[in-house]
Amino acid sequence: MPVPFIDIKRFEPGFLDKWNSKVQEMSANAQFIGGAEVTSLETRLAEHTETKYAISCANGTDALQIALRALGVGKGDKVLLPDSTFWATYECVVNVGADPVTVDANEVDLQMDFDTFCQAVEKYKPKAAILVHLYGWGSSKILDFRRFCKDKNVLLLEDGAQCFGVKYKGESIYKDVLISTTSFYPAKVLGAAGDGGAVFTNDEGLANMSRQLANHGRTSHYGHGSVGWNSRLDSLQAAFLNLSLDHIDARLESRRSIAKRYQEELPKLGINVIKAPEGYTENGYCNANIFSLEERPRLEAHLKEKGIGFGIIYPGAMSDQPGAKGCEKFGDKDIARKICASILNLPLYAYMKEDELQEVLSAVKSFNK
Ligand SMILES: Cc1ncc(COP(=O)(O)O)c(C=O)c1O
Repeated sequence: MPVPFIDIKRFEPGFLDKWNSKVQEMSANAQFIGGAEVTSLETRLAEHTETKYAISCANGTDALQIALRALGVGKGDKVLLPDSTFWATYECVVNVGADPVTVDANEVDLQMDFDTFCQAVEKYKPKAAILVHLYGWGSSKILDFRRFCKDKNVLLLEDGAQCFGVKYKGESIYKDVLISTTSFYPAKVLGAAGDGGAVFTNDEGLANMSRQLANHGRTSHYGHGSVGWNSRLDSLQAAFLNLSLDHIDARLESRRSIAKRYQEELPKLGINVIKAPEGYTENGYCNANIFSLEERPRLEAHLKEKGIGFGIIYPGAMSDQPGAKGCEKFGDKDIARKICASILNLPLYAYMKEDELQEVLSAVKSFNK
């Protein structure tokens, strides 16, 4: 039986009927921009993330750009970011006119390395930094990152595109953060029926500026306090996300239980499965395993032959991308590059079935290590 890497069509019974009637109702009322669905979504997002303000926008990349602009980051400013992340984290820095410096990763939690980051801060004296919470958890040193940045006056933006639903010490990972973002790309833990994103903060000034930037810098319909752009989340996406939020607990529970099953079963097969650091309740966004450089290509071929989907998240470090040519890179151990060459992600999605999991495990078992 083939098993896909992800399946985003596993909706709850009745979900699509509710969505279809919602589309009909909103279309009949031409309710397309703003309105009750967007307001309700933002209220619910703020509650879920335990933040004061949630500002919806068009996608997770825009959310990062809005947050950087709201922080006042622009031309000539240095911004540190992980060398191992999705390209959008790099792009957003360049798109606001600032200069990115990538910082090497930590091989235990697969996030940006704290000690290397501290050295980079001393060297570059950046205006801002982006900490990315990858794979469904965050850094074991998350509080140290926040404290250090505060002490050194480095504005810390947290890219939470992958961590919706993650808890740290029992509280939302977004809770005590200067400013953070998420993505509602359909494959995310909370996914839209298209693109979407949001900015979260507890700071009223940052919230107001983010809202302004995401809507043409508007202070009134034809009043423009700043130069922003159109990054509004449309009402249909908001409605889909509202319907999805009704099921977020069950979706998280399902993802977490599959992640846990992998963590129990894969070590028995000699696989180095990465676990969230202590203190985290992961969201089950992703399974992450580290193989030797020799093993991974053989396993890829084996899984393909068995019809088992897999991911390589990510196949290349930011500093190795042709689009980052000439960018500054900090850290001399090349850990990000090593992670990229040795990671493999097995199928994990909400409502994955036990027989699908068994199929994956038996394919891995039959792999000749
Ligand atoms: C870490 C990270 N940052 C940013 C983004 C960008 O989000 P979007 O695709 O919604 O623009 C993603 C999405 O894949 C991501 O994984």
